[in-house]
Amino acid sequence: MPYHPSAEAQKLIDRLVGDGSAEQPWAGKPLPKHVAIIMDGNGRWAGDRGLPRIEGHREGIQSVRAVAQACRKLEIPYLTLYAFSTENWKRPRTEIAALMKLLRDFLKEEIPEMLENRIRLDSIGNIKKLPLYVQHQLSKTSRATKAGDMMQLTLALSYGSRDEITQAVKKIARKTVQGKIKESQITQELVSEHLFTAGMPDPDLMIRSSGELRVSNYLLWQIAYAEIHVTPVLWPDFRDIHFYQAILDYMGRDRRFGKVRSK
Ligand code: FPP
Repeated sequence: MPYHPSAEAQKLIDRLVGDGSAEQPWAGKPLPKHVAIIMDGNGRWAGDRGLPRIEGHREGIQSVRAVAQACRKLEIPYLTLYAFSTENWKRPRTEIAALMKLLRDFLKEEIPEMLENRIRLDSIGNIKKLPLYVQHQLSKTSRATKAGDMMQLTLALSYGSRDEITQAVKKIARKTVQGKIKESQITQELVSEHLFTAGMPDPDLMIRSSGELRVSNYLLWQIAYAEIHVTPVLWPDFRDIHFYQAILDYMGRDRRFGKVRSK
């Protein structure tokens, strides 16, 4: 189902890009309902300034705030951020520890902002692998913001798509052996329902910062038909304007889902 901008969001889009010309590739085009982001380039941003890598992550949190606000203003209901991958556990222990503390502080400090903007916090990934103090804050923030009905901000934490799909296959296999489901009932919808993202629409748009042309084990099943927007901007420099640019890029695309163009 195409997701069209509300009158308020349309006004914002027109204000951002309207130049009075007849060329308005975004006019009448749907907005993405779900945007997924690979936040990359924190280390390079810090390195360019002679700073420790963690300073890049710290500044990256300002980008997270800016993007969540921009997404909320456009009334896009789902935003999913790749904050920590299964592969990231191989980083130096000091970097992991500092990242976890930043994450905990973010989760704690953002509650009032999320409540004010009716945003609910959710997470996907192997949450049980995270330090207990992070797990604790994660469930506290999720509980506190549960009623947020305007936007779901999902953090992918200790997340890896192959791992997610493997876990789904195991769950389905177990139910099949137990006789709870028949082989003929294993459909694409059933697989989706066994992923961490069960109940969420698939991303329509995937954004990657820092110019790398990879999907890095992120939402591999779910991005089957997503549009991809790659920007050279490093994540700590990424702000609302870059988010809006990605949205306009998306709105200018012709999505055919394998079919021919409709007249
Ligand atoms: C990739 O940059 C970024 C990460 C592995 C972590 C992302 C984390 C944040 C933006 C901060 C915490 C997030 C939240 C939601 C509070 P990189 O370190 O791989 O950069 P590089 O490729 O330049 O080395």
